[in-house]
Amino acid sequence: MPTLKINDVEVKVEPGTLLLDACAQAGFPVPSYCYHPTLTPVATCRMCVVEIKGQPKLATSCTTLAADGQEVFTESPAVKDGRAGVMEFLLINHPLDCPICDQAGECKLQDYSYQYGQDDSRMVEPKRRYRYEDLGAKIVIDKNRCIHCTRCVRFTKEISGTYELTVANRGSNLEVTTYAGRSMDENPLAGNVVDLCPVGALTSRDFRFNKRVWYLKPVPTINRHSPMANPMWADVDKNRVWRFRPRPQGTQVSTHYMFDEERLAWHRYDLDPAVRVATPVLRGAPASVEAVAAALREGATAVVGQGTFGCDSAQRLGDLASAPELRYGSGDRVVQIQFPALQLSSDGVLNRRGFSERGYRFGHLDELLAKVKGGEVRSVILLHDEAFSSRAEAAKLREIVEAAPFSLVLEPIPGELSGLATATLPVTTFLEEADFVIDHEGVLKRYQKALQAPKGVKTVAAWAKELAAATQAAHA
Ligand code: SF4
Ligand code: FES
Repeated sequence: MPTLKINDVEVKVEPGTLLLDACAQAGFPVPSYCYHPTLTPVATCRMCVVEIKGQPKLATSCTTLAADGQEVFTESPAVKDGRAGVMEFLLINHPLDCPICDQAGECKLQDYSYQYGQDDSRMVEPKRRYRYEDLGAKIVIDKNRCIHCTRCVRFTKEISGTYELTVANRGSNLEVTTYAGRSMDENPLAGNVVDLCPVGALTSRDFRFNKRVWYLKPVPTINRHSPMANPMWADVDKNRVWRFRPRPQGTQVSTHYMFDEERLAWHRYDLDPAVRVATPVLRGAPASVEAVAAALREGATAVVGQGTFGCDSAQRLGDLASAPELRYGSGDRVVQIQFPALQLSSDGVLNRRGFSERGYRFGHLDELLAKVKGGEVRSVILLHDEAFSSRAEAAKLREIVEAAPFSLVLEPIPGELSGLATATLPVTTFLEEADFVIDHEGVLKRYQKALQAPKGVKTVAAWAKELAAATQAAHA
């Protein structure tokens, strides 16, 4: 293992470690713009320069490997002078439009100009000007802000393989643009260029001008629309969700990026409390949970749990089945694999494993329908989200709900089945609860509560407990 000194602190690193990572490991993170752990290093911005004893010039730490016996300085006068020079060049054409820029508050240019920049500009020439351009319906580019780090260009080349973006012209006319005016609409990963852009040059049409980021509280959670339950941030403010962003885990490439479909799914969970029904409903009228429990007691009960909910919900819901074999699994969303490095499973039902481990049998809805029609099962409790069922499965579930003498549907976002059910209970969305899932590789992934549910809207586990308690009280 190479052993080196960084600012006189000895550190041992794995062979092949970049100096930039070694510095961070030693507790001296160096600033960077163009470096990204999942992209080929190109050392274009020169912001990560460090001094290495014995070398006459500063070295870019994002392209230099840590070596045994090296003595590295990250804050020497030469390094500080070098960074100040880089900042001055980067700011030559950059507009001072932070008050109207979406990136303000999470902008590396803003942060580093405070740390390494100068108070004043020596630039007397007029700044280069471009009008902002739409790169399709999803992305807007403001070239005035671009610092030419090429992260976005490398992303479309190395990760999405769609090659829309390129660098045109040279010198002070250099600009990031699309080949022959192509849009980014066909790219299902387009939103990632916004995350990658260290300044505010690439902005999201969906988020643009919606919220100042310093009001947002990032809550660590998982994306239930990603087959591998990828970690993500849910940015919330005043009990509303405003955006989803990837929550990268080290160099694991699939956690750095998010599909646009997964990213835009936040809209589904931004529910208006004014239109949410917050009480149990029985035969079209508000009812008590005891009345729902009484209806359930009249015969055998089967539960159908969709494998996109948490394990706690699965466990508590399963306890309501009259027999272990009356736990059925649902959810059949299939994701088309387009990017094997990012899509580690095509099964869009992220917690299938967690439900299976709790006795839910997937692919047996025909058996349940026969039991309902034959009178063997009288009541069906269905935990469902229509975004994760195909038309065929939705039709099968509809048949079960219509055939059952009593059906209780739990849908966080009420859909068609809620309208057909004998009874419904208002349940929380995944953003309004804390639970965990077991992904397709058997990894347990927890998620935190990001939003407070309206009064009366409860978790599946809480409703299951109340139904069980009401039944016990009736038997006492
Ligand atoms: S648009 Fe952003 S990510 Fe792309 S080169 Fe410019 S600064 Fe870098
Ligand atoms: S981060 Fe090293 S040169 Fe840009």
